[in-house]
Amino acid sequence: MPGSILRPDESMAGLIPQSFIDDLLNRTDILDVVGSRIQLKKTGKNYSACCPFHKEKTPSFTVSPDKQFYYCFGCGAGGNALGFIMDHDNLDFIQAVEDLAKRAGMDVPREEGRRGKPRQPTDSPLYPLLSAAADYYRQALKSHPARKAAVEYLKGRGLTGEIARDFGLGFAPPGWDNLFKHLGGDNLQLKAMLDAGLLVENPDSGKRYDRFRDRVIFPIRDSRGRVIAFGGRVLGDDKPKYLNSPETPVFHKGQELYGLFEARKNNRDLDEIMVVEGYMDVIALAQQGIRNAVATLGTATSEEHIKRLFRLVPNILFCFDGDQAGRKAAWRALESALPNLQDGRKIRFLFLPEGEDPDSLVRAEGPDAFRARLTHQAQPLADYFFQQLMQEADPSTLEGKAHLATLAGPLLEKIPGNTLRLLMRQRLGQITGLSGEALNQLNAPRASGGQGHGQATPNAAQDSHAHEYSDYDAGHFADHGEPSYQDSASYFEAPSDFSGGKPGKKPWKGERKWDGKGGKGGKRGDFAPRQPRTEISVESPTLTALRTLLHHPQLAQKVEDASHFANEGQTYSQLLAALVEALQKNPKQRSMQLIARWHGTPQGRLLQALAEKEWLIDQGNLEKQFCDTITTLAHSQLHNSREARLRSVMQKSPSELTDEEKALLREHFSNASSPGPQS
Ligand code: UTP
Ligand code: MN
Repeated sequence: MPGSILRPDESMAGLIPQSFIDDLLNRTDILDVVGSRIQLKKTGKNYSACCPFHKEKTPSFTVSPDKQFYYCFGCGAGGNALGFIMDHDNLDFIQAVEDLAKRAGMDVPREEGRRGKPRQPTDSPLYPLLSAAADYYRQALKSHPARKAAVEYLKGRGLTGEIARDFGLGFAPPGWDNLFKHLGGDNLQLKAMLDAGLLVENPDSGKRYDRFRDRVIFPIRDSRGRVIAFGGRVLGDDKPKYLNSPETPVFHKGQELYGLFEARKNNRDLDEIMVVEGYMDVIALAQQGIRNAVATLGTATSEEHIKRLFRLVPNILFCFDGDQAGRKAAWRALESALPNLQDGRKIRFLFLPEGEDPDSLVRAEGPDAFRARLTHQAQPLADYFFQQLMQEADPSTLEGKAHLATLAGPLLEKIPGNTLRLLMRQRLGQITGLSGEALNQLNAPRASGGQGHGQATPNAAQDSHAHEYSDYDAGHFADHGEPSYQDSASYFEAPSDFSGGKPGKKPWKGERKWDGKGGKGGKRGDFAPRQPRTEISVESPTLTALRTLLHHPQLAQKVEDASHFANEGQTYSQLLAALVEALQKNPKQRSMQLIARWHGTPQGRLLQALAEKEWLIDQGNLEKQFCDTITTLAHSQLHNSREARLRSVMQKSPSELTDEEKALLREHFSNASSPGPQS
């Protein structure tokens, strides 16, 4: 079995058998699923609507009943019925499966888990428990005998009862077991309270006690408004200042944003969301009428955070302290943001005077002055980007310019929005004096003595995004430039385990079998500089073959042995091989079933993007292209394994060689002048 990494992420399908998911998708019509949530209009074969995932006035959201896909040409959101429910209702994969199953009147079967605990179902018992705890804390703020200190504290921070109510603020009274006693119950309940992070167990004595004691309580809600965790602040200067719920089955710190539910509740039609650092910043801003702030929960801004926000609003404003830590946090936020910058999305950064946070500042200067800062002092991402880089690399020297270009190049490549990326490249050109062509060369694989594309940039190792695309295809089909990813880039989240080929791999310089569109007839040598990307892009043959297979699954039967062309480390060809195998085993599968196998994985996102692309590009002669690609891949695989073998043989001393190995060497040296593989 080639490339076991190609099995769908097990945590994805988790404990639900794939056959059930296939069945479920077969019995589900995406039109029902989408149509029950948004108003669809028939337009030809497809249906359209204004996209529920970004703000727009004219509809670019499309549902194809034939393909059982939805796709938004505006923001690039796309997927099958499962994907739609996940994104629209903010559910995880398992929850979405359960939701669909309920509609279809099916029970979700579970396989025995090989590892870990089963995932929490949609209606985890932790939700009512957390909600009961929130009620208790809220009630305690109103009526507990010890409440006074907490009320004074909140008033001292300028909060009114109205805001306290909107955010559901509460009070955990002093004492070890107030909540414990209040929620009481049997062993099961006790276990749930531990699971929810409400109780703490002393590992030595085994004693259980309330996690939150004598603290002001900030309930953390998910986007549906369910309480999923708490933050608790001491009333004085004790340490730790804030205590938070631990990670639990319903609370994942790195994904949640404090205040998001409240901000959306206040205004469903937000245009911009402001990201700040603390609970109290969110609340103090709300108190002053600025009700679009959210806070990360003591973690760096993640890509997950950004994706979530961009599903709701086109604009994000980051508000950080002006100190060193704040600058660092801002840069991390920027890095998370770049891969999500489709055209039309905007990010700004506002740095506050040192020693101030939004809470202190808005209370000191009032909302109007604070708003004026937002308007006049917030920097667009591009300004902040170059300003920061110019501090790192001084563009007044030649070396500084070079350094700056090397730093900026790979970062800019992450931006999926064509216009923004081009504009920022132009700006880089102005700063460094490098021409567009020179910048292209800088980012393109080097065209030197057979070193291959491992040399692309000095940052290759740190830069998982830019290089995940450059596997086999980039070197081998050199004239086609990089695989097309402007359409699919937003589907990648570049997990570190999904990297492309190994750097330094020798490209195969064989006869060019592929002569698709965009080929430049080899005039530029093996490695052509990148072409500026156009709307409809050049696509690598392997990607084209993948796409063809998705739409014409029967072609899989034409392949003799899929294992022959799956090269390790070559993501696309491995994926192709896995699809072929899956189809050979079960030829009746539809494309959406194939894709559901990889749902939630980078492979899944790639497949989705490819499947949707057929709407944009019409191609003839697909079958021949498909077969040619398979042949080419198989040749390349053969060649690569020969090369690997040759390398290992060459490292041996002559006395160790077997007769067969000697023959191999002889053959190699007698053929050394002819570059192609012998097949
Ligand atoms: P800050 O230390 O900046 O506190 O932490 P703050 O928000 O200004 O708090 P106040 O104004 O003194 O009440 C920012 C955020 O970092 C997390 C919390 O999420 C906090 O809101 N944090 C901070 C913790 O989780 N634990 C801590 O001990 C401190
Ligand atoms: Mn503060």
